[in-house]
Order: sequence, then C-alpha cells, then structure tokens
Amino acid sequence: MTGARSKDPRKRVLALRSPVAVTRRLALTLPERRRLEEMVAAINDPVVARWTLRVPYPYRRSDGEATFRRWAQRPRTGEALPLHIVRRADDALVGGLGIHDIDPEHLRAEVGYWLGPAFRGQGYAREAVRGLCRLAHGTIGLHRLEAGVFPGNRASVAVLLANGFRREGRLRENVRKGGRPVDVLLYARLRDDPWPPLVAPARPRGASAAPAR
Ligand SMILES: CC(C)(COP(=O)(O)OP(=O)(O)OC[C@H]1O[C@@H](n2cnc3c(N)ncnc32)[C@H](O)[C@@H]1OP(=O)(O)O)[C@@H](O)C(=O)NCCC(=O)NCCS
Repeated sequence: MTGARSKDPRKRVLALRSPVAVTRRLALTLPERRRLEEMVAAINDPVVARWTLRVPYPYRRSDGEATFRRWAQRPRTGEALPLHIVRRADDALVGGLGIHDIDPEHLRAEVGYWLGPAFRGQGYAREAVRGLCRLAHGTIGLHRLEAGVFPGNRASVAVLLANGFRREGRLRENVRKGGRPVDVLLYARLRDDPWPPLVAPARPRGASAAPAR
C-alpha cells in the first residue's frame, strides 16, 4: 500500500509534497532553507513569543538555524507537519503553522500558527488555518483537531472560532512558561463540524499592514 493510500495519518503526512495546500491568497509549503532570513525577520516579535510556548524573543538567526536543523535531522516520523505560509502574489513568507502530536490511533492532532506583524489583520491567519484544517481532515484523515490558547489571546481565539473550533474547557496550570504554571484554553473541531463563512476583515489593523491584495 502506498503512503498516500494508507489510513495511517503519519504515512499520509510523509507522502505530502509542497505546496501541501493552496487557498485564495496563500500557499502552505514545506519549510525551505532559502527562507531562513525571511522566517527569522517575521517571527522575531515579542507578540509571537508571548503567546506561544517555545518561540523566544529576541529570535536570532541561530534560533532559526537550530529550527531548520531540527526539522532536517529529526527522523521523519510523520508525527508533525511544520509548514510556512507564503503569499502567492509575491512569494512573501507571511508566517508559519502546522500540526503536531499526530495520534494515529485516535486520529487526533494539535494545530499551531503565527504571522509576522506586517501581515496581521488581513484575514491571512483565518485563511491559512482553514487550508490547514481542510488538509488535516481531508487528505491526512484526522478526525479531531485541537488548539491550546493562553488566556487573553483574543486574536487567536477569533481565528479558531472563524474556523469552527469550539471551546471545550480551561486546563488549569497545564504548561510551564518562563518557569511559571499557566492555564491553557482548549479548543477543538471535529471533521464534520460546520465551516463558518470566511469574511474579509473590515479594515487592516496596524500601521505596518501591507496593502490588501
Ligand atoms: C493569532 C494571529 C496568527 C492572528 O493573526 P491575525 O492577522 O489577527 O488574523 P486574522 O487577520 O485572520 O484575524 C483574526 C481575527 O482576530 C481578530 N483580532 C486580531 N487581533 C485582535 C485583538 N488584539 N483583539 C481582539 N481581536 C483581535 C481580528 O479582528 C479577526 O477577527 P474577525 O474575524 O472577527 O475580524 C496573530 O495575531 C499572531 O501571530 N499572534 C502571535 C502568535 C499566536 O498567538 N499564535 C497562536 C497561538 S495559540
């Protein structure tokens, strides 16, 4: 049986080729080393560090190199799918996203995402997460997608609700961040949960937002 036809989501992940998904404005691509500088420039942001578990600030070139080494060296087990979000119009790296902790028995995984500050407020996160979830439920065959959000991350919650995730609870002091226990809000969507219509934001937020394309 070929990987693409296997029911094991990890084998299906290993069979993916770039771009793994394409939406109206974006392509979700396997990370390429030539995008290292662009990735470091986009992710080097205190907002990303604040709302994610492991991204440091400042995020140096050496952090980016270590990330690429990890992606390249880790035996490809298919338990995670790190991706870059690329704007189709100009090939700019907009951010990153992915699925990890893929559980082949329960057909479950966790999603995560970030955008560079210049690319926020234009609906790219909603669009990219929609592409990722469709891929995860479709080609990869996952039944349940989870996301953990730190309390107060309203932009992230909006992205999840816009993609049909529902809040399932608050995991008290579920992780340690900066040496302290932190609560995590658990969101999840199932394969047959409805897809809310994707609407364009009324106006781009933030002075650095690129013009809408
Ligand atoms: C989360 C993140 C990817 C969202 O990016 P974005 O550009 O705001 O996403 P979108 O343009 O698709 O907009 C998402 C929604 O968030 C809303 N939003 C954005 N910032 C907000 C804020 N500070 N307060 C309230 N709502 C906010 C937008 O209005 C939009 O809602 P709408 O659909 O009702 O218009 C981005 O803020 C980011 O990279 N944050 C840092 C990393 C992070 O938090 N990752 C997720 C970890 S769980």
